[in-house]
Amino acid sequence: MAVTLEVAEVGKDFLIPVIDSVSFGVEAGEFVCLLGPNGCGKTTLLRIVGGLEPPTRGRVLLGGEPVSGSGRHTKKVGVVFQEDRLLPWMTLRENVELVLEPLGLGAEARRQAADRHLRLAGLAGFEAYHPARVSGGMRQRAAIARALAIEPDLLLMDEPFGALDAQNRRIMQQEVRRIWRETGRTILFVTHAIDEAVAIGTTLIMLSARPARIREMVRNDGHLERGKLIDDLNTMIMEEVERQQGVVGPA
Ligand SMILES: Nc1ncnc2c1ncn2[C@@H]1O[C@H](COP(=O)(O)OP(=O)(O)O)[C@@H](O)[C@H]1O
Ligand SMILES: [Mg+2]
Repeated sequence: MAVTLEVAEVGKDFLIPVIDSVSFGVEAGEFVCLLGPNGCGKTTLLRIVGGLEPPTRGRVLLGGEPVSGSGRHTKKVGVVFQEDRLLPWMTLRENVELVLEPLGLGAEARRQAADRHLRLAGLAGFEAYHPARVSGGMRQRAAIARALAIEPDLLLMDEPFGALDAQNRRIMQQEVRRIWRETGRTILFVTHAIDEAVAIGTTLIMLSARPARIREMVRNDGHLERGKLIDDLNTMIMEEVERQQGVVGPA
């Protein structure tokens, strides 16, 4: 089931402040793209939303339940990283089956769920292949199948197509749109590529330079002219890159 996500005044300090304060809400079934210059804190924010990293300040609610701290929340989060993180000695099917083991499914149910999600990700016929025997795009498809197989309430994707060539990226962008439409999942997708965000997101959130704040949040529902939106976002990201490099002062 897709659920709502609420990020409330989340901040994070490592040795330096990385996230100042970020608040936003995501409706169930939205496809949100998080944009921002390299190093501005996108991965950190995604990890906090997924409960992989505790925030220094603020909180994250998924379907109304706090994500980190309690250790008792019942919501499931799937994650796709830039690297596929598949185990090379296992087949694609076994890689997906592996994440289903903690869910208490029997062997046959695991196999069926794995094959169903591999098919959803466009890998029917490749279930018994090892990762080294398929292309980079197909490995990312398998990573998506693995993330979806747990039937996540929220799917997090961190620059998942960053290592693919331009042609494969475009194919995978269309594929992730299709998978989103077919599954109705809530997706939070991190990218620093504006064209990618505009091509796939229903809501775009632009972060400022580090420490991250929300610079702009736009609904990408077709009422904006696409070329103008891309131009505006490009201008913003260049300003934030310059600010991060200390070329211009704080906003
Ligand atoms: N575990 C950590 N310990 C210390 N600093 C970190 C850690 N993780 C990230 N950072 C720092 O936080 C900043 C933001 O990193 P990150 O969230 O990876 O940015 P992005 O994904 O936007 O490129 C960087 O300066 C990075 O060095
Ligand atoms: Mg990152």
